[in-house]
Amino acid sequence: MTDKKLRSDRWFAPDDLRSFGHRSRMMQLGYAEEDFVGKPVIGILNTWSELNTCHSHFPERVQDVKRGVLQAGGFPVEMPSLSVDESFTKPTSMLYRNMLAMETEEMIRSHPLDGVVLMGGCDKTTPGLVMGAISAGVPMIYLPAGPMLRGNYAGKVLGSGSDAWKYWDERRAGNVTDEEWRGVQGGIARSAGVCMTMGTASTMTAITDALGLTLPGASSIPAVDAEHQRMSAGCGRRIVEMVTEELTPNRILTATAFRNAAIVAMATGCSTNAVVHLIAMARRAGVPMTLDELDELGRVTPLIANVRPSGKDYLMEDFYYAGGLRALMKQLESRLDCSALTVTGRSMGENLEGAKVYNGDVIRSLDNPVYAEGSLAVLRGNLCPDGAVIKPAACDPKYHVHEGPALVFDSYPEMKKAIDDENLDVTPDHVLVLRNAGPLGGPGFPEWGMLPIPKALIKKGHRDMVRISDARMSGTSYGACVLHVAPESFVGGPLALLKTGDIVRLDLPQRRLDMLVSEEEIAGRRAAWQAPAPRYERGYGYLFSKHVTQADQGCDFDFLQTDFGRTAGEPDIF
Ligand code: FES
Repeated sequence: MTDKKLRSDRWFAPDDLRSFGHRSRMMQLGYAEEDFVGKPVIGILNTWSELNTCHSHFPERVQDVKRGVLQAGGFPVEMPSLSVDESFTKPTSMLYRNMLAMETEEMIRSHPLDGVVLMGGCDKTTPGLVMGAISAGVPMIYLPAGPMLRGNYAGKVLGSGSDAWKYWDERRAGNVTDEEWRGVQGGIARSAGVCMTMGTASTMTAITDALGLTLPGASSIPAVDAEHQRMSAGCGRRIVEMVTEELTPNRILTATAFRNAAIVAMATGCSTNAVVHLIAMARRAGVPMTLDELDELGRVTPLIANVRPSGKDYLMEDFYYAGGLRALMKQLESRLDCSALTVTGRSMGENLEGAKVYNGDVIRSLDNPVYAEGSLAVLRGNLCPDGAVIKPAACDPKYHVHEGPALVFDSYPEMKKAIDDENLDVTPDHVLVLRNAGPLGGPGFPEWGMLPIPKALIKKGHRDMVRISDARMSGTSYGACVLHVAPESFVGGPLALLKTGDIVRLDLPQRRLDMLVSEEEIAGRRAAWQAPAPRYERGYGYLFSKHVTQADQGCDFDFLQTDFGRTAGEPDIF
């Protein structure tokens, strides 16, 4: 029981007929009034499903969270949330990130909740939950699913995604037997938890940690470690205190917090998807983060997490044993604004006290980085006036400056057919281009951006080449892949005007991506361009296609990008 006025009091306290109904329905569940009236009611938003294999431990973790809430004097209620899984969702999980965000916001807004624990981890669940909870505005704490154990097959360590691509290319080259391929299949995902490279999932949970939304260092704890259970109970205890302290997200999610998170992301070798999600989350909090700000941070932040795919040797389990995210942030302390407030009620600097690096090869020092610049670079040019993204650390340096003829595909099936043709007329200097793969064209902005190397080149031993698309790519991918070209080709962006044989120039040091085609010729092609038919005419896809913003804007819906969910004249929900 607390003396503080609670949001849930609006449902349970009044002596009127509606509140009678609310209380009586809670009693239908077997609870007495003293169980929930006058106590912080904590919603536990759980993105578990039997097809979300990364969250298979959440049914147990919910019990740990509830234990913590009850210990601290709160009343826990578990609520299901859209389980956007990365492995099975077609056409792409990104189509549904905003749906999860909307569901999260409205579930919180419409129910008697004083605070929430957000249980997520698999790629889109983190930004989806956080975006929605920012807009709902009640105290929130994020419970990251944690990475799965290292993969293992025949004495070799396997990394999520990156080793799948690697072995697939070797299989296409005839170097891997069926038996070996099945062995990799069985060994690459060995436990509950998210992908254990520094892919999108671990990038986004690290960002959430660096924003101050998790218990300090929670993002690095392996899913099946007993510490993960203790952390979960800790989330339950802490959210009850946060309600009493009125520690709402607008006190934590400042421009400073987002800048800190972007620096940490760059230092981890983050997934390119981080760009889209960071911008979307920041804008929900009224922070107008831009691609240019991220590029500026990318230029000056060394990559110090030696974790695949940007790092060479290690995986998230090694990162945890080396000290985890707190240790990495300790290395970056001089570059962070450590006064930022966090869910602990303490500053970032206080949370980092005592953090240590236990393996200096996994978590490097600033003067011995894996890569001197950060992990992402933003390109501009006549092919991408609103920006494109590349991951310099994950591609062969010989492609940092490159000129070559374009080989353009209008759809994924067309490209797939061609690249499997051993007689395809292609050289390592060619620039593979896939268009109609952006937010509207994909549809939903699929992770097709690591275009497969043509079989004709694979057989000759080539494993990288310059590739360009308006798609995203998996955070576990690698290679000289230019992504998120904006505006996308489906809406008439310049990529739509490129033709096979045009010379394309990539100049990473100058941050440029151009087609070497005259302006008159481009203008003529633009005049002749015809918009493709819309992908959707009904349902959620229709809503998405009418309101999704381009990659440089974070792909949020245009009507949701308001400061902490407030519109003029609307009262603060809390
Ligand atoms: Fe869930 Fe990779 S499939 S994090």
